Amino acid sequence: MRSVTLLAMRVPFLDLPAQYAEARHLIDPAFQEILEKGAYVLGQWNQKLETDMAAAHGVKHAIALNSGTDALRIGMQACDIGPGDEVITTAFSFVATIETVVQLGAIPVMVDILEDTFDIDPSLIEAAITPNTKAILPIHLFGQLAAMDQIMEIANRHGLIVLEDAAQAVVTKQNGKYAGQFGKCAGISFYVTKNLGAAGDGGLLLTDDDEVARRAKSLRVHGMGRERYYYDEVGYTSRMAELQAAFLHAKFQFLNQWNARRAEIAEIYQAGFAKAEFGIPVIRKGNESTWHQYTIRHPKREGLMAHLKENGIDSAIYYPVPLHLHEPYAHYGSGAGSLPVTERVSEQCVSLPVGHHLTDEQAHHVVKTVLAFD
Ligand SMILES: Cc1ncc(COP(=O)(O)O)c(C=O)c1O
Repeated sequence: MRSVTLLAMRVPFLDLPAQYAEARHLIDPAFQEILEKGAYVLGQWNQKLETDMAAAHGVKHAIALNSGTDALRIGMQACDIGPGDEVITTAFSFVATIETVVQLGAIPVMVDILEDTFDIDPSLIEAAITPNTKAILPIHLFGQLAAMDQIMEIANRHGLIVLEDAAQAVVTKQNGKYAGQFGKCAGISFYVTKNLGAAGDGGLLLTDDDEVARRAKSLRVHGMGRERYYYDEVGYTSRMAELQAAFLHAKFQFLNQWNARRAEIAEIYQAGFAKAEFGIPVIRKGNESTWHQYTIRHPKREGLMAHLKENGIDSAIYYPVPLHLHEPYAHYGSGAGSLPVTERVSEQCVSLPVGHHLTDEQAHHVVKTVLAFD
């Protein structure tokens, strides 16, 4: 293996202090006001964030929650998914996708993914449908939407609910429609590393359905009904703190600008790697990726990552082990070899820095360094 050490230049995956520096003129006064008033819970900043997020996604309701995981769990519960219901999804995701299904007593049914876009292969969905199937849970991985036209057509024909795992796809479009406008509801994550990252954990449920919205609002405060300390169902404690909502609302003002810069960095990579022999991201027709990750497939991934590290470039694996091969979830799947595309992609995928903090020079350095490895 040849490993050429190029000019030293650090290329970090994330630069959170730089994000804060851009938005601090909005964050600091909002924090001061919240702290001086002592208005910590479900106040004006939750309302502002919810109003603006609903508008940005073109849906009627946005419900701010504690995390993207809670958005999925509360969304599913509000759609009446419960014990014994089967939910068709994939094993190439963050664990929260199936963890929440299992927590509700439902059964994750994991089918294989498409080799180029890494999301659910719609041609495999119908064979996985049984009399117990209640929902399809596509994952909008790495900032682009799953094949929603095909998924919605199958779901409508079989009377199934569609829930979108939009954790990685805040304000992301397909054929002019946003994540959250396809399924009955969609869960967004504001985890620190996301395109719109909180100062800790945060999430949001999007829905056009009044009843789902009503239940989600109740479930985030223990299932409380109209009257204080009277409960309609078993719920959670999943409010978003006002400080967090204000932080996110401030950063949201920059999201379009930041996503546009991500697209420029991704374009430098796409052009630079156009003739490379490894797999580069494929964007589905009609999709506008928000490039949550820029993920390539490389047959010598571990060697490439070591080479990048030597040259100051961060890289990361999303995700090294598919969900059906983790001990707590293994009995929901059929073991190694059962999801060949998922398993192959998990062995080869590696994500490169694509945040808006990168300069063109850094992006070109990444291209040169990757291409220098063979
Ligand atoms: C695909 C996917 N689903 C669900 C989640 C869960 O979101 P959170 O970390 O905000 O709970 C994440 C975030 O990490 C994710 O990437």
